[in-house]
Amino acid sequence: MRRVVGEDGIREAAALLCAGGIVAFPTETVYGLGADALSDTAVRRIFAAKGRPSDNPLIVHVADQEGARRLARRWSDLAERLAARFWPGPLTLVVPARPEVASAARAGLDTVGVRCPNHPLALRLLRAAALPLAAPSANRSGRPSPTTAEAVLEDLAGADGLVLDGGPSGIGVESTVVDVSTGMPVLLRPGGLGREELEAVAGPLLSVGDGAGAPRAPGMKYRHYAPTLPVRLLRLQPEAAIEMIRTHFDPADTAVLAATAVRQALTAYRGVDLGPDADSAAAGLFEGLRRLEREPGLVRIVAVWSETRGRGLAVMNRLEKAAGEGHHV
Ligand code: TXA
Ligand code: MG
Repeated sequence: MRRVVGEDGIREAAALLCAGGIVAFPTETVYGLGADALSDTAVRRIFAAKGRPSDNPLIVHVADQEGARRLARRWSDLAERLAARFWPGPLTLVVPARPEVASAARAGLDTVGVRCPNHPLALRLLRAAALPLAAPSANRSGRPSPTTAEAVLEDLAGADGLVLDGGPSGIGVESTVVDVSTGMPVLLRPGGLGREELEAVAGPLLSVGDGAGAPRAPGMKYRHYAPTLPVRLLRLQPEAAIEMIRTHFDPADTAVLAATAVRQALTAYRGVDLGPDADSAAAGLFEGLRRLEREPGLVRIVAVWSETRGRGLAVMNRLEKAAGEGHHV
């Protein structure tokens, strides 16, 4: 992959997308790896570059609600209200798909996940290419999502394509995915938009596992966000976590990834300070995991997290997956 920037970069990237190539670009959540969402050939290049299983559908990015309607077979009142309130922003809506959406992007399903990203470069790229862009996170499959162009290159340097560098992504965890294709909205993946904010508009949401039927975010069954070091997750308040870590883990081989209150009490350990709250934790999480992998002499990461409000739910979900908990193959 070759790094490009600025107006020239956008122009070159748009031309490559129109020719069926792949381009990594920044969004407000994480970097995406994009291709023409109407072309099976182009979309398959994304799966090949990532090493992604072909039964895991991609999110299609659009410049506005009009762009989403053009891809949807049905655009419900609820989809309309959610898009009006939260787009551009970190919310993906799963809706019934029109057949023009590349089957590879939908992984053969009759629905498609659509979102309008809140990032000036992403929006300019979408307008310059004048295409809907299928784009999963721009990591090798199974790796933490990239929040910088450097992290994209760490995983995908060997792939054919461009990376449009727009600096670090602000939110740091992926979009919240909600299935609004049936009468009952289902939260498929917690993310950058808090559940409370969503429910204030959508009403109560079912969660995957609430008896909402078969897992409808096929990606949820795969192990995601897996760093190369084992992760132990402690769902404990600061005092209990500090005591537990001091008692059971050796500073020589254990790193501690936790909010400031815990980190400051454990300066003997290497690690990552996730800052004071859920927003700072989301912003620093994936980069922190990637940084710890490069530290010599570590045999494990101990992560401390207990907040599930706002973006805290997404942080918890990603840490559970990094720790290998939950459903995956
Ligand atoms: O913030 C984000 O969402 C980032 C940026 C680049 O926009 N994208 C991202 O894409 O995280 P990806 O492919 O890594 O995650 C897409 C998730 C997967 O869990 C997938 O299974 C689910 O969305 N998904 C996509 N289309 C779906 C569909 N039609 N039905 C159910 N789940 C779908
Ligand atoms: Mg991903």
